[in-house]
Amino acid sequence: MGNFSVKTKVIFGEGLSSLTGQIQKAFLVTDPFIVKSGKAAYVTDCLAQAGRECMVFSDVSVDPDIDVVTAGVSRLIEFQPDTVICLGGGAAIDAAKAIVYFAIKTGQAGEPTFIAIPTTSGTGSEVSSFSVITDRQKAIKYPLVDESLVPDIALLDANLVVSAPPSVTADTGIDVLTHAIEAFVSKGRNDFTDAAAEKAIKLVKHNLLKCYKEPNDLEARQGMHNASCLAGIAFSNAGLGLNHGMAHALGAHFHIPHGRANGILLPYVMSFNAGCADSMTPTAKRYAQIARLLGLEGSSIRQSALNVIRTARTYMGKMKMPPTIQAAGVGKDEFEEALDAMAESALADRCTASNPRDCTADEIKMVFRKAFEGKLP
Ligand SMILES: NC(=O)c1ccc[n+]([C@@H]2O[C@H](COP(=O)([O-])OP(=O)(O)OC[C@H]3O[C@@H](n4cnc5c(N)ncnc54)[C@H](O)[C@@H]3O)[C@@H](O)[C@H]2O)c1
Ligand SMILES: [Zn+2]
Repeated sequence: MGNFSVKTKVIFGEGLSSLTGQIQKAFLVTDPFIVKSGKAAYVTDCLAQAGRECMVFSDVSVDPDIDVVTAGVSRLIEFQPDTVICLGGGAAIDAAKAIVYFAIKTGQAGEPTFIAIPTTSGTGSEVSSFSVITDRQKAIKYPLVDESLVPDIALLDANLVVSAPPSVTADTGIDVLTHAIEAFVSKGRNDFTDAAAEKAIKLVKHNLLKCYKEPNDLEARQGMHNASCLAGIAFSNAGLGLNHGMAHALGAHFHIPHGRANGILLPYVMSFNAGCADSMTPTAKRYAQIARLLGLEGSSIRQSALNVIRTARTYMGKMKMPPTIQAAGVGKDEFEEALDAMAESALADRCTASNPRDCTADEIKMVFRKAFEGKLP
């Protein structure tokens, strides 16, 4: 039995002022850069003009950890807001989701309305049931997955993304592509998730490189913002796959930004899922469908699948992203030392469970090694 739900009300453009009528006390979760750069005023000025109270919690770091969540829960309970707003990239949104989740679990926080305002076009966290929290001591990223984590309202305003530097545009944009591709081939996919994933893939094709080259192109930025949200809807319902399981392990060990880790692994995981090195799998046919969507159809399923794999690689090259784990700055010895632990945590990662091809720890190590050195078929 499958199902599909989109709980979040999605608002496009500058819509926060239309929501202040329902807010009395807002708890804003964001990161220090958003405050320092003046971006937090998007929320604080709007609330101040409407005479609403606001407490800012801006201790969120890249890859939020358990300590940040614990601190946020205490502040939230102390303040007793009726609304939680998060403004930032996936890190701020994920931290806010975990803070609200655990605060409600204590029974001391009521049920605040949850508004997510992304400033990157990447994670789709504004509509997903996922929150990724890092345990720094164990070097593990845990995807927390629960329907109650889905925000009530998502506000998609492309004006907030134009300031993203090229490297952030590249990393987060490849994350969107990975979400859509993994959802499209996932064990949990259905016609509804396919529709969202297909549209996201087309929007990435039309807008990602434009955003990279022309950061102020608002139409392209809104295209990628919508792609990110649609891919979030797709994977929140269909699940992700081995690519995310491995990226979480790689990111937790070597502090490679989430989208960059996904992009480096994508050609190798797709190649494994398609069976490029042995015999073609049913997933190769799904990749061939993506090739058709992108106008990249080849003379055979293998050729079509390879065309998609190489296109992902081309996007990364055009956006000056490192093509291998080695090129991302990881040394051979430290990589080999971490390999067993990374393979084990990728295998245990919740995302890996919906990968279309079952895998063993040894196969994951093989894919990691290929991505380290850059060996593509
Ligand atoms: N919940 C989910 O469904 C999900 C899915 C994928 C990834 N994630 C998690 O999300 C996090 C990654 O999120 P991300 O890729 O959005 O990156 P991020 O939130 O870590 O932001 C990256 C950097 O860009 C800065 N930034 C954000 N918006 C900006 C803007 N408009 N202009 C200039 N700089 C800006 C941030 O301050 C930060 O320094 C990781 O922790 C990852 O594990 C969650
Ligand atoms: Zn991701």
